[in-house]
Amino acid sequence: MYKKPFFLIVALAAFTLNSCIHSGNQNQMKKSILLVAFGTSVPEAEKAFDNIRERISKRFPETEIKWAYTSNIIRKKLAKQGRKIDSPKEAFAKFAESGITDIVVQSLHTIPGAEFHEIVKAAAEFEKKHPDIKISIGNPLLTDSGSVDRMADILIADIPAERKKSDAVIYMGHGSEHHVEDMKYTELNKVLNSKDPNIYLGTVEGKNLLDPILKACREKGMAKAYLIPFMSVAGDHAINDMAGPGEDSWKSRLEKAGIKTVPILKGTAEVDAIVDVWADNLNRQFKR
Ligand code: CO
Repeated sequence: MYKKPFFLIVALAAFTLNSCIHSGNQNQMKKSILLVAFGTSVPEAEKAFDNIRERISKRFPETEIKWAYTSNIIRKKLAKQGRKIDSPKEAFAKFAESGITDIVVQSLHTIPGAEFHEIVKAAAEFEKKHPDIKISIGNPLLTDSGSVDRMADILIADIPAERKKSDAVIYMGHGSEHHVEDMKYTELNKVLNSKDPNIYLGTVEGKNLLDPILKACREKGMAKAYLIPFMSVAGDHAINDMAGPGEDSWKSRLEKAGIKTVPILKGTAEVDAIVDVWADNLNRQFKR
């Protein structure tokens, strides 16, 4: 008869002790944000990253923010100029050394493609070696159909006000050789086109090339086209493949067809509403 309350007390004490240890852990928990971009070696393009840095630190003022680039080529290029930028793997290792226990990664990529999967893989390998450190990863811009629809509205709202409905707007995305990933661009092009038939999205790689867009513009007899990158920064692809003087650039190809072009060298990271999509995705992981 006496045993029951005794056990209850023991259980209660154990529970209290456990919750003390638990809250103690929470006090010691050190959280940090890691922003991971493809990267750029074009200094003027970096202003797009400055905008992300500012906007994210405003939203998460208490938390330290670090950066990593996924592109090995760009990190090597920058290292030659004396600028060492971490890969995600290197950044994780530094966090472990500085006693961070909770890493919230935000992918600044556009689609969940090879670059994104690389982060996921690096995180999984790291967590295996450091079971005491938790890594959560926020999604890139385009995942489900809701995110594609939201993006279409943001892009349309960001088109220069002077653009007439009869002018084409052609976004340049990167594209992917991986079919499933490339479909995100196909979907976005479809949604943009359904909202405004003169707005298109093509890509440098993959299935959504410029050819059918150029053909449609010709058939409609369009006189003018705005060219806008759908990439986080207006880097190499935007400067050369989109707006460059070479005969293969989109600008040259459209102008050869008699369509006047207005290239806008602005990355998606310079559009606050797009940075907010990344920040929302980050916040979802942050709260977990
Ligand atoms: Co590329």
